[in-house]
Amino acid sequence: MTHVLTSVAWPYANGPRHIGHVAGFGVPSDVFSRYMRMAGHDVLMVSGSDEHGTPILVQADKAGMTPQEFIDVNHRLIAEDLVALGVSYDLYTRTTTANHHQVVQQMFLACYANGYMVEQTQLVAISPSTGRTLPDRFIEGTCPICGYAEARGDQCDNCGNQLDPTDLIEPHSKINGETPEFKDTQHFFLDLPALAEALGEWLDGREASGLWRPNVIRFSTNILQEIRPRAMTRDIDWGITVPLPGWAEHPTKKLYVWFDAVIGYLSASVEWARRLGDGHEERWRDWWNDPEALSYYFMGKDNITFHSQIWPAEMLAHNGEGSRGGEQGPFGHLNLPTEVVSSEFLTMEGKQFSTSRSIVIYVRDVLDRYQPDALRYFLSAAAPETHDSDFSWPEFLKRTNTELVAGWGNLVNRTASMIAKNFGQVPAAGELEDVDRALLEQVRAGFGAVGGLIGAHKQKAGLAEAMRLVGEANAYVSTTEPFKLKGEDQRERLGTVLHVLAQAVVDLNTILSPYLPHSSTAVHHALGGEGIFQPMPQIQEVSDLDDPSIGDYPVITGDYTSAPRWEHRPVTVGAPVAKPSPIFTKLDPSVVEEERARLGLVDGAGV
Ligand code: MF3
Ligand code: ZN
Repeated sequence: MTHVLTSVAWPYANGPRHIGHVAGFGVPSDVFSRYMRMAGHDVLMVSGSDEHGTPILVQADKAGMTPQEFIDVNHRLIAEDLVALGVSYDLYTRTTTANHHQVVQQMFLACYANGYMVEQTQLVAISPSTGRTLPDRFIEGTCPICGYAEARGDQCDNCGNQLDPTDLIEPHSKINGETPEFKDTQHFFLDLPALAEALGEWLDGREASGLWRPNVIRFSTNILQEIRPRAMTRDIDWGITVPLPGWAEHPTKKLYVWFDAVIGYLSASVEWARRLGDGHEERWRDWWNDPEALSYYFMGKDNITFHSQIWPAEMLAHNGEGSRGGEQGPFGHLNLPTEVVSSEFLTMEGKQFSTSRSIVIYVRDVLDRYQPDALRYFLSAAAPETHDSDFSWPEFLKRTNTELVAGWGNLVNRTASMIAKNFGQVPAAGELEDVDRALLEQVRAGFGAVGGLIGAHKQKAGLAEAMRLVGEANAYVSTTEPFKLKGEDQRERLGTVLHVLAQAVVDLNTILSPYLPHSSTAVHHALGGEGIFQPMPQIQEVSDLDDPSIGDYPVITGDYTSAPRWEHRPVTVGAPVAKPSPIFTKLDPSVVEEERARLGLVDGAGV
């Protein structure tokens, strides 16, 4: 049994999540975690809402709310959506907890004490018309590295490099187009060059493992070439206080949102253990200090640099493992990521998701109208693992109806109906024929095949293999024709065929359950099983562990210890089987036009 940390990118709390977001971090991290638990590992899955930074301020202002009101609303919306999708976090929290603030400040102090946080002056952009500082991501200009014309002051979305606003060619404000003025201010910089060698060694080791997706390791290695100190403080009044004399009192100097957000993986693990109480408060160390523990970070590709450079650099600085050496910080020897599992983008009807151009499909809207497993199925089957992939309503309709309903759903349904009608309970098998053994063996081999693929982050291929086996089971029905076995003398053969089918469905349900956890319980019941098959996450209202002035807030948590084992389970002969109701809902073709109209994509209007 290995300790496996599943670190899921923290959704930014500036609005509800769209399906592109959950395709990148939500569904893959959950399929992986559910599988790893079933395979017997001790999984800790953490995340939360990312709630600091300028965009929160700007958007709260626009909405006529305080930043706190604004993030309270969005944190709750996001948590509800993730629960509805079934993402099995051990703890989904937020970055405005006192616990997170403390952990971040301790990390900062450890980096500072070891000499990796250095004070320097920096040019900061000022809006000439308002006199206020202009945040990095509200400055646009041409990327000096790749020439992309719409690079932002913090990052270029085209080449992925981190930038400073002063790097941009012809910088201008995204808010009103004016050219910013730059003035000198004091900031703390993470001395990345002093950590570059250690980062390089770590990345070389990771590359040698052969596990990382090629584009992720290549990108991570490339950005090491451009490494330079990065500012970890900002001129802003919303964020975590810099815990040093002269800085702590300063109302408009705070830690950079990305410096704090990535520490969330650690702080959420600490919060999880603290909430266990009863002497378990230090249990987070099993995932962070145990050298045998594994850690997997799930995100979209625009997050790679923060997970393969900034976060490991913060941990190395805390550990005292850069070229300046140093002491191990208060969190002990922190494990660097085993793997950064980054997805490419999901496009929508061939276009980049964009809230501003209202090319967006919110998770909530899909879950209000369709089954959560239909969305999970689509996002897994068409996952943007190594290439961008596209969501379109015709494809969603097709995959739901032909694969989920007519493939898997139909197999379950016809199996349970025939058993209900002929036996009312799972029949015993008589003597097996070759055709029976062949199906049972193929399905049993699915545990190794599909499990191996999920463990290697090839979930799309894993699902394809599981569905190939569903196809084999459906073909077995056509070959053995149980519906024609009507005579008394054929009754034993009928029992055997239906037993074999029931066994195939039971095993396939186990294999599909990391992908389709909601419906797995219904399938389980259809074949006479009892109880919940895949445990589900829940919202819990909690109060802050340290600061009574912070209002109660929702977290996601759950008890997943009853997850089934990843193994063949013999079907229970005699278990009652009643006439089933369909498990998946067949979609009417009219949904395509309805949904396109909702998006303003009516025929003739460009799609
Ligand atoms: N909030 C970021 C985004 O939405 C992701 C932050 S991941 C974290 O892209 F680790 F930094 F929290
Ligand atoms: Zn660029």
